[in-house]
Amino acid sequence: MSSVPVRSSAPGKVILFGEHAVVYGQPAIAVPITQVKATATIESAPGGSGLTIVASDLDERFTLAKAPQNDPLAATAQVTLTHLAIPEPDAILTIQSTIPIASGMGSGAAVSTALVCALAKFLGQPLEPKEASELVYEVEKIHHGTPSGIDNTVVAYEKPIYFVRGKPVERLTVSKPFTLLIADTGNPSPTGKIVGRVRRNREREPAHYDALFDQIGDVADEARRAIESGDVEALGPLMDENHELLIELGVSSSFLDDLVETARLAGALGAKLSGAGQGGNMIALVEDDFADQVAEALRDADAARLIQTKVS
Ligand code: PMV
Repeated sequence: MSSVPVRSSAPGKVILFGEHAVVYGQPAIAVPITQVKATATIESAPGGSGLTIVASDLDERFTLAKAPQNDPLAATAQVTLTHLAIPEPDAILTIQSTIPIASGMGSGAAVSTALVCALAKFLGQPLEPKEASELVYEVEKIHHGTPSGIDNTVVAYEKPIYFVRGKPVERLTVSKPFTLLIADTGNPSPTGKIVGRVRRNREREPAHYDALFDQIGDVADEARRAIESGDVEALGPLMDENHELLIELGVSSSFLDDLVETARLAGALGAKLSGAGQGGNMIALVEDDFADQVAEALRDADAARLIQTKVS
């Protein structure tokens, strides 16, 4: 057990291509977003006090023994202790995050990743990204039902990834860096609920939905080739195509569609919703010279928050 405080951070993320279809075995592409992050700090506490969890942003403080039922932080700590086969330490674990919640930016996965990594390091058993990702996936399953695993993977590896459910993760080489604007609708995107609705719709019309998933998978594969060969111009139309397919899946909203259209009209190379949809974020691919004017247009269209990031 470490005698000095230990800290771990994990970034946010956005999905560039392939959300929803990735749940059904299609490929998807995601990148970490380091401008926002979750941080976990853990330090020793007096003997016999057990593990105290403090979620400072949420004003919550409880011991593991008296955690609210189904609390995600307590579940994450418990999964980690069970995995490491180490008894509960006497310590205080504090979580902070600047990642907007339920916005498709991987807040839950990042908080869990920071927590498992800090706790494991504190206990003298630091985790490799693969192990951290697998633990966080266990937690994601408790809260989201059938997660594909893309969120925990991109957040734990902190690198652009090409992801196929159940296959080893593949790092993506970004031959030519490109700029994204991420605009938040300010409306929540309840991932589990939306994924559940898509599942029920697919049960009613399997051929139609599987055809849409196949098309989304093809777009993600083309995007991979474009990213790896540095053909940034090709990415814009592929984002547009992916957004149309997500509309057909029924996971967009009029506000998301407005922001996507606004970005395109203001000069973006392409735009789409990102994540589970309904609310949450959209992303726009921009040339650096046009970034300010697209950002201004998105603000005028009532985007609740904007992040500009370079993918490399
Ligand atoms: O957590 P979000 O909102 O980025 O959504 C995750 C992406 C989905 O494909 C919709 C679900 C999944 O588990 O991959």
